[in-house]
Amino acid sequence: MKKEQHKMKYVNADELREAAVLLMRGKLVAFPTETVYGLGGNALMDDAVAAIYEAKGRPSFNPLIVHVPSIAAAEQYVDLSDNARKLAESFWPGPLTLVLPRSTDCTLSLLVSAGLDSVAMRIPAHEAALALLKESGVPLAAPSANRSGRISPTEAAHVREELQGRVHMILDGGACAVGVESTVVDVTEAVPVILRHGAITKEMLEDVVGTVKVAEAGSAIKSPGMMEKHYAPDAQLRLNAKTIEADEALLAFGAPIAGAQVVQNLSDTCDLKEAAANLFRMLRLLDASGAKKIAVMPIPEEGLGVAINDRLRRAAVK
Ligand code: TXA
Ligand code: MG
Repeated sequence: MKKEQHKMKYVNADELREAAVLLMRGKLVAFPTETVYGLGGNALMDDAVAAIYEAKGRPSFNPLIVHVPSIAAAEQYVDLSDNARKLAESFWPGPLTLVLPRSTDCTLSLLVSAGLDSVAMRIPAHEAALALLKESGVPLAAPSANRSGRISPTEAAHVREELQGRVHMILDGGACAVGVESTVVDVTEAVPVILRHGAITKEMLEDVVGTVKVAEAGSAIKSPGMMEKHYAPDAQLRLNAKTIEADEALLAFGAPIAGAQVVQNLSDTCDLKEAAANLFRMLRLLDASGAKKIAVMPIPEEGLGVAINDRLRRAAVK
């Protein structure tokens, strides 16, 4: 226990206990994960799940991710195919969400599935999140802890900006290491389908299960999270910028274009992992600078760059 407390430098045992009790009673607690902060509620209680939609102002047809502490816990609610099990064993805990068929006796709130007969599930790779799941003893429905259509929070301060007064408690676990949401993979059919790009890439998945498909941009019915305008800063984004206009702030990648007044650099060494971890925070900072337009330098369409560009394209839709 001592060792665990030492490693979780931000969250102490008393806070964890308080948060777990709140969750057991159906209250909402925002908590850190390795990807982004989650707005957590007891996934067994419809009221708690409804409260999540309400707090986010999220369209009710958008289903939520259920977080569990172990594969055994997942199996209480969903059926794991061979492919699903291989992926879970390879990447859990970690930034991979699997869309799985609800088991016939599944006791999860139907609201988390928002009308689908599947449920999205993952084990987060974050000590405080895992400790919270174990302490509360309930699966936690948790979308990113932002209001609907806004940038996902990667620090507790972002959650406060978004949800202060709409959530009972915010656990501060410091900055999220990954910085973009989990890869979402539908494993309800024979061939897995990527519904949302994230840190676990197509190549990584294919190493484990062979061929993996990517959902087409238009197939928004299956994953409403793919709705085009989903991650929106207030400023207008111009992507793949190689020049800068007088009225633009700059989101740089590598050596910044000369002449910009306001600059945030995703990674001056062109490190995609660093860029992902910085992405939402820097968009927020540029928004807060009052800039009406943001020029974004090109980011390579490889590895984590696929997820970063995907988020940027969505953020650019007005
Ligand atoms: O990294 C993450 O995944 C974060 C942290 C908190 O775990 N959570 C997150 O949740 O990003 P959210 O609700 O913002 O995104 C959930 C995504 C959406 O794209 C949603 O449409 C999709 O998962 N999804 C959830 N359930 C689904 C289902 N049954 N079928 C298809 N897509 C589903
Ligand atoms: Mg979200």
